[in-house]
Amino acid sequence: MRVLVTGGLGVNGAWVSRELVDQGHDVIVADNRLDLSLLGERYAAQLRLEEVDICSQEDVERLFAEPGIDCVVHMAAAVGHEDKDPAPARTFRINAEASVTLMEKAAAAGVKRFVFASSRAVYGGLDGDHAHPTYRPVKETTQTRPESTYDLCKVVSEEFGKAFAAATPMEFAALRFATIFGPGKLMRHGRFGALSRLIEAPYRGEPVEIAHGGDQSDDLIYAEEAARGVVAAVVAPTLAHDVYNIATGRSYTLGDMADAVRRFFPDARISIGDGLNYLGTSTNYSGVLDASRARRDLGFEADADLVSVVGRYYQRLRELDSLKKGGQAPPYLSA
Ligand SMILES: NC(=O)c1ccc[n+]([C@@H]2O[C@H](COP(=O)([O-])OP(=O)(O)OC[C@H]3O[C@@H](n4cnc5c(N)ncnc54)[C@H](O)[C@@H]3O)[C@@H](O)[C@H]2O)c1
Repeated sequence: MRVLVTGGLGVNGAWVSRELVDQGHDVIVADNRLDLSLLGERYAAQLRLEEVDICSQEDVERLFAEPGIDCVVHMAAAVGHEDKDPAPARTFRINAEASVTLMEKAAAAGVKRFVFASSRAVYGGLDGDHAHPTYRPVKETTQTRPESTYDLCKVVSEEFGKAFAAATPMEFAALRFATIFGPGKLMRHGRFGALSRLIEAPYRGEPVEIAHGGDQSDDLIYAEEAARGVVAAVVAPTLAHDVYNIATGRSYTLGDMADAVRRFFPDARISIGDGLNYLGTSTNYSGVLDASRARRDLGFEADADLVSVVGRYYQRLRELDSLKKGGQAPPYLSA
């Protein structure tokens, strides 16, 4: 299959690009920042890299000028969203308008499937029995309640995707990720890099303090696992639904994560304050997503063993460190 991955050099996209290459697909990566620190030169040599601004109509048209793209995985976005977006029109252009442009050009070019990186943010703040202390898993049928500009853009993109799927032969799937952790989240993800700090600081021999949130449970999925979920949606023979939670379906506390870290770094200096909402955002998105639809339809089940995935995270950090040239200091990715 020929697959176009927008944002394919990012924290999640790089693992999607790698997984697609590993599975033998013909991969085109479109990104506006040619930072190969997560993808690595070896993978870069096995795919086509296009420097593209998804907000530019001409750039997007150029991507589809050559026919034969079977599937688009749209992951490019402005992330690190704060409660009060200082530039909502800009966020809208990148996170919603560009999605629609890509869908329009993809459908016109005969692309068979469009997979969109959505987010659990579409559910807004979780309350009632979805919240602490019961954490009833959130199903895809739950009413969306977007709050921030970012959340709204995800909902708008999802709705346009469904509309294109209804009006054209192009299939559509929105993937609502749980909280993803992985290398590279310390640069532009703001407070959403908290889990990466918890994991990476001990690796670098540094102390780490998360001021509050030790009582909060959340559905935490490792970036490489989320990427497997994306690829499952790309290769699934059919899509029975247009929305999938990509999650573990389990609840973890920061203490559980710290325990996993200590299996590798027994002397890790980790301090976690009490309370809920470890991200400290005005909307508390934390909770558990129901992962059964993706398991049933896509055959996707995330590795939910924290010790296993934290071990893989450290293995990747060692690999990425060794790839770095000129002794440049981590973390990965330019701002
Ligand atoms: N990380 C999470 O926990 C999480 C959770 C839910 C959803 N998501 C979604 O997953 C997707 C990927 O997120 P990520 O965490 O990998 O972010 P990221 O910032 O690491 O990756 C996004 C990529 O998009 C590229 N990009 C940004 N603007 C662009 C533009 N105008 N033109 C071309 N490329 C552009 C960036 O260079 C980057 O490589 C996003 O759509 C995000 O909303 C992430």
